[in-house]
Amino acid sequence: MPALVLVGAQWGDEGKGKATDLLGGSVDYVVRYQGGNNAGHTVVIGDQKYALHLLPSGILSPNVVPVIGNGVVIDPGVLLSELKGLDERGIDTSKLLISGNAHLITPYHRTLDKVTERFLGKRRIGTTGRGIGPAYADKINRVGIRVQDLFDESILRQKIEAALHDKNQLLVKLYNRRAIPAELVLEEYLGYADKIKPYLADTTLVLDEALKANKVVLLEGGQGTLLDVDHGTYPFVTSSNPTSGGACTGSGIGPTKIDRVIGILKAYTTRVGSGPFPTELLDADGDALRRIGGERGVTTGRDRRCGWFDAVIARYATRVNGLTDFFLTKLDVLTGWEQIPVCVAYEIDGQRVEELPYNQSDFHHAKPIYENLPGWSEDISKAKTFAELPKNAQAYVKALEEMSGAPISAIGVGPGRTETIEINSFL
Ligand code: GDP
Ligand code: IMO
Ligand code: MG
Repeated sequence: MPALVLVGAQWGDEGKGKATDLLGGSVDYVVRYQGGNNAGHTVVIGDQKYALHLLPSGILSPNVVPVIGNGVVIDPGVLLSELKGLDERGIDTSKLLISGNAHLITPYHRTLDKVTERFLGKRRIGTTGRGIGPAYADKINRVGIRVQDLFDESILRQKIEAALHDKNQLLVKLYNRRAIPAELVLEEYLGYADKIKPYLADTTLVLDEALKANKVVLLEGGQGTLLDVDHGTYPFVTSSNPTSGGACTGSGIGPTKIDRVIGILKAYTTRVGSGPFPTELLDADGDALRRIGGERGVTTGRDRRCGWFDAVIARYATRVNGLTDFFLTKLDVLTGWEQIPVCVAYEIDGQRVEELPYNQSDFHHAKPIYENLPGWSEDISKAKTFAELPKNAQAYVKALEEMSGAPISAIGVGPGRTETIEINSFL
């Protein structure tokens, strides 16, 4: 039975939480494979709204086993408070499984994230300040602390002391901050051990056995393709691999087991933080998209930058993720525009360019070439089938599909679970 990957096709916040929740009734496991609590995934069920940061959105579906894979970076304080928040709302969180190989975010990662951003000034990335980059840097540098280290006091002590040895030099001598005492971090983190132990599992083995037993595994990405540290708009990216390859390394599921890769694609474009964004609108249309689409960050509360749909990016997402399908979200937000511009290519130094330029400087001065598509004014939020959409909305979806290189298999027409048009089944 299949493993499916669900990945953001743009700069994050495409509606991955809603898409995961929609499939929650038909899957057995939902796995987060990268990122951490920089993510903010919204799920709306009836009149209840949930914002998930570290936990897989599948935790809201009663029969799903939620898994935090080895590729995730975990801030244990955030994890426990998120679990408590859900428990208080009557959600059963007891089935959660956490990989012992996942790395931990510590107070010094959060501090370093904030001070390095401050020192970058105008060149800052606009991170979420959650310590994501410094925690992944330690992982790659082989000085990270993993979930399994929490259960061996002497190892934990050694690792924290070793990590703080040079980080405190940096904090004090370079950044003018107070040193962080290793003893304090040790005490705090030892306090998490008993609370986290019940969830600890050999998640790669569990997932392999699940697939062998014909269970369905959904891998839920955080962030999005253009925020990928390898394939995104570097350096204005996150420090992990949201793209589909990251689903394999971040979960321990081999590529031959993955049947379907679904790109979550907003019917327009948004971005939070710094970095190039060719179709960004700094005018009344941008304000309208932000207002109607409720484009405000779930994690940091920052206003999202908004712009028209960019087909160059969608094509790129199809390519680097090997997408088999798109889930087009927020089509309802575009209701009411007479004409809807769609970026079909870029102009770079007088040349028409159809594919995302690999050169960062070229992308920085790419100008969108727009095609205007006719809009619609009818309310589409109650539409249940493609045929119920106004003709111009149908044509908009078909045009996006043609430009983007993979079939659009579902369309979101509102934030709720039921506000979805299913065209091709994902399972
Ligand atoms: P994620 O990070 O990819 O899970 O996306 P976010 O939750 O950060 O942002 C998506 C926002 O759009 C949330 O507020 C969702 O409730 C909302 N949303 C998702 N799909 C739709 C849709 O089809 N229509 C509308 N109007 N809102 C949607
Ligand atoms: P979800 O999963 C949108 C952005 C930050 C910043 C850059 C690096 O909800 O789609 P980081 O804290 O990761 O080092 O910040 O990445 N970013 C996101 N933008 N959605 C997200 O997650 C994001 N997670 C990180 O704004 O520009
Ligand atoms: Mg989000």
